[in-house]
Amino acid sequence: MTDIERDVVVIGAGASGLTAANELKKAGLSVAVLEARDRVGGRLWTETIDGAMLELGGQWVSPDQDALIETIDDLGLETYSRYREGKSVYIGRDGERREFEGEIFPVAPETEKVMVDLIEKLDALVAEIDPDRPWDHPDARALDAISFESWLARETDDEEARENIALFIAGAMLTKPPHAFSTLQALLMAASAGSFSHLVDADFILDKRVVGGLQRVPILLAERLGDDVFLGQPVRTVQWGDSGVTVIADGMTVRARRVILAVPPVLLTRISYEPPLPRLQHQMHQHLSMGFVIKVHAVYETPFWRDKGLSGTAFSPYELSHEAYDNSNHEDPHGTLVGFVSDRHADDVFRLSAEERKARILESLSHYYGDEATNPIVYYESDWGSEEWTRGAYAASFDLGGLSRWGGDLRVPVGPLYLSCSDVAGKGYQHVDGAIRVGREVAAQILAE
Ligand code: FDA
Repeated sequence: MTDIERDVVVIGAGASGLTAANELKKAGLSVAVLEARDRVGGRLWTETIDGAMLELGGQWVSPDQDALIETIDDLGLETYSRYREGKSVYIGRDGERREFEGEIFPVAPETEKVMVDLIEKLDALVAEIDPDRPWDHPDARALDAISFESWLARETDDEEARENIALFIAGAMLTKPPHAFSTLQALLMAASAGSFSHLVDADFILDKRVVGGLQRVPILLAERLGDDVFLGQPVRTVQWGDSGVTVIADGMTVRARRVILAVPPVLLTRISYEPPLPRLQHQMHQHLSMGFVIKVHAVYETPFWRDKGLSGTAFSPYELSHEAYDNSNHEDPHGTLVGFVSDRHADDVFRLSAEERKARILESLSHYYGDEATNPIVYYESDWGSEEWTRGAYAASFDLGGLSRWGGDLRVPVGPLYLSCSDVAGKGYQHVDGAIRVGREVAAQILAE
């Protein structure tokens, strides 16, 4: 058992924890980062599977994500644009496949009008929300008491319009069904990306990728910390008090003045605290839960859809894979599609055998791209739900009423304990940008003290 002392100990070597540790080290404090896994990066994981480089976790960078973009530049990494030439595909409520250009799905004119009106209304509401303090909105409680599904049903009886608008936040972002989160939570999601329109615009939200994979970010951040990063060290116990903390992992103990818990909030309860955390934290942490999505990777000899004039971008709230994109790697002659199967659909297909699940998912992709989609040379499903140190994807959100009730308390330190994670961010919420932002803010808070 190794026994060390540091100014600050960071639990979790994801983008957030590594950013905080780097900021503290730059300012002259001593740090140790304890990571449960045998790799850094957490939800950023670039892996070669059967010869194909795949982004198993987070990968896209959008132009508003300035904290992430600054970090990418600082680390000397290069980015490239997602392939987007050609038409997108939409499969409507009637089951018909339609190709289209632009952002608004090719629906009946009256449905299109409802969708445009809803987007405008949501944009106006989002403009009233401070992503760092959504609970301060004058109607925060009311907006937090109504599910996004019920709010949409109140606005229109056009089911296809509702299902499409719900998709941008539910399946595509929070990865929970729209009855499972509040309208305030939906507005935070949109406000964290600048507007609801940004979520509708795939070219904005899924703009760029990092050459070599987004896990390069945490890998290079960890390299800057050298021997101060300890892998394979799941933290089991945090003893805390006025004089500081003692953090006990499987193979080491770290004594420090402060601890940064840089783990998804759902994993906070995996750690034992001595003394126990206060009542407020015990309650609050129970009301955050992870969404759930399977990220499906299908690699082909060539990007065959491009020959058909397709960009690879595809959407349908009625398909098993509700969205899919061209995810071919930089300067790679192979074509890669990435599809997403979310919430209840993901539960359903995980009840099938692996072969049946693969067949069902590829069949769904073939509805967008044609039969060639059923024959990839590499196929892989990122299953973050079975990752012990993540337990879902993409991130955590509050249940109904939780954001207005506890949001303001979530990041308030408890004695020497600080929380840092993308899932507690305002701007950049649920994204790497938010992870970096909160990492910087927590480091600044500790330095100021
Ligand atoms: P993260 O979860 O990455 O790090 C926490 C770390 O703590 C982990 O390494 C974990 O092992 C460790 N840990 C947990 N408990 C511990 C314990 N008790 N002791 C020690 N260590 C412990 N974002 C984006 O910007 N663009 C995108 O395209 C996507 N897409 C996407 C796809 C998929 C499939 C996923 C899963 C996620 C995304 N995201 C994304 C989200 C993005 O990946 C995510 O928001 C950040 O990587 C989270 O970084 P954090 O450091 O906050 O947590």
